[in-house]
Amino acid sequence: MLSYKACSDSHGQDSSYFLGWQEYEKNSYHQIHNPNGIVQMGLAENQLSFDLLESWLESNPDSMGFKRNGESIFRELALFQDYHGFPAFKNALAEFMAEIRRNKVKFDPNKLVLTAGSTSANETLMFCLAERGDAFLLPTPYYPGFDRDLKWRTEVEIVPIHCSSSNGFRITMSALEKAYQQAKKLDLKVKGILIVNPSNPLGTSMTRNELNLIVSFAMAKQVHIVSDEIFSGTVFDSPNFISIAEALVDRQLENTDMWSRIHIVYSLSKDLGLSGFRVGMIYSNNETVVSAATKMSSFGLVSSQTQYLLSNMLADKKFTGKYLKENQKRIKKRKQMLVSGLENAGIGCLKSNAGLFCWVDMRHLLSKQTFEAEKELWKKILSEVGLNISPGSSCHCSEPGWFRICFANMSAETLGVAMERIKDFAESVTSNRSRRIYICHQMISDQRSLINKWVSKLSSYDHESDR
Ligand SMILES: Cc1ncc(COP(=O)(O)O)c(C=O)c1O
Repeated sequence: MLSYKACSDSHGQDSSYFLGWQEYEKNSYHQIHNPNGIVQMGLAENQLSFDLLESWLESNPDSMGFKRNGESIFRELALFQDYHGFPAFKNALAEFMAEIRRNKVKFDPNKLVLTAGSTSANETLMFCLAERGDAFLLPTPYYPGFDRDLKWRTEVEIVPIHCSSSNGFRITMSALEKAYQQAKKLDLKVKGILIVNPSNPLGTSMTRNELNLIVSFAMAKQVHIVSDEIFSGTVFDSPNFISIAEALVDRQLENTDMWSRIHIVYSLSKDLGLSGFRVGMIYSNNETVVSAATKMSSFGLVSSQTQYLLSNMLADKKFTGKYLKENQKRIKKRKQMLVSGLENAGIGCLKSNAGLFCWVDMRHLLSKQTFEAEKELWKKILSEVGLNISPGSSCHCSEPGWFRICFANMSAETLGVAMERIKDFAESVTSNRSRRIYICHQMISDQRSLINKWVSKLSSYDHESDR
């Protein structure tokens, strides 16, 4: 009775990424009301700088009160707005994006399409660039939501570009070529590469070398590049963030074919922590893409009061400059707290310089180096330790034992509780393992002495029969 899409399970809701959230909802940690509950460390939310946003709101009451120069504009905002978005908001957003990129690239507000978050931006781009039988190549590990956002309704396929821990999960030409050949084997037409820069879940920004490789590959294969730069404002350490737009400008590729095959996705969900406001965008140099995406944006517009409020906030340059700096400082401090807490528990992380999470190496805690063992460890950490973290398999990582742990969606106190729990757990695993090793040694040595006894008894029989 229902449509194929309504019944299909390709939404990805049964992945451990979403299952962990469900368990957290049933038994959420609260310092006083539920101190033994699950701590949510699987959500890349930024709650570190809300006080800065709140103090801006307090000093700008007109923006919240739907007023302009003291006069109500409620009626203006209440009426239907056309899907091109408010010019003032698009201008402010374009300038904010340039500011994050240290003004090395400029953005033309006419090439910007507003969407209800990056979720909608990524899906809209898939609708514009590909269809059933087509594929996008994605470096692994990748954001688990992409199985839903890129594939579910569009029927576009994802072919992984397998990256490995041996080089810090960096993209190589051979990995790109392998993925391309794999897509051909599956009879899929490669339409593009989608990168997330800085990466979710790695927390690293792409090097110039990687970006150049990707651009060269896309030029050779004549495919698109979608660059999801949703975490661009979270870069808190060197190397600096390099946008795909900057990489192209540096190679003087403006106004070439490749220039019109570059599409940038951005949203205010991470840098400003406004994931509930649903503000995202597509930036493209391709006129047809901009026009089609603008029409499609009817299915997920940004409300007029949100546009009005944020156009005022982002136009306040003094505020945005201070905010970005302070927010990055806070993210860095919090990340260091996570890294040292994990170090204390004998657990290491991939060196990161961005994002709201770390990519954590727990291979030594696996009973075997398999994905089954990774799932077993994840379940234990969720149900016995009370932490919801995301296993690497949910990010399509090709090596078992890696986990994404988020640190910016909770208070420092809660992170402290989580670190104590993980330390106790890691110690119990290693001490159990040492105990098991000790028992094994003991058994071997007992058996050895038993064998020696038998050998000496047998040899004494031999001597007796000789006599
Ligand atoms: C890489 C990436 N893209 C897109 C999204 C979706 O963001 P939004 O809340 O703007 O839809 C996320 C959210 O975590 C993400 O990590």
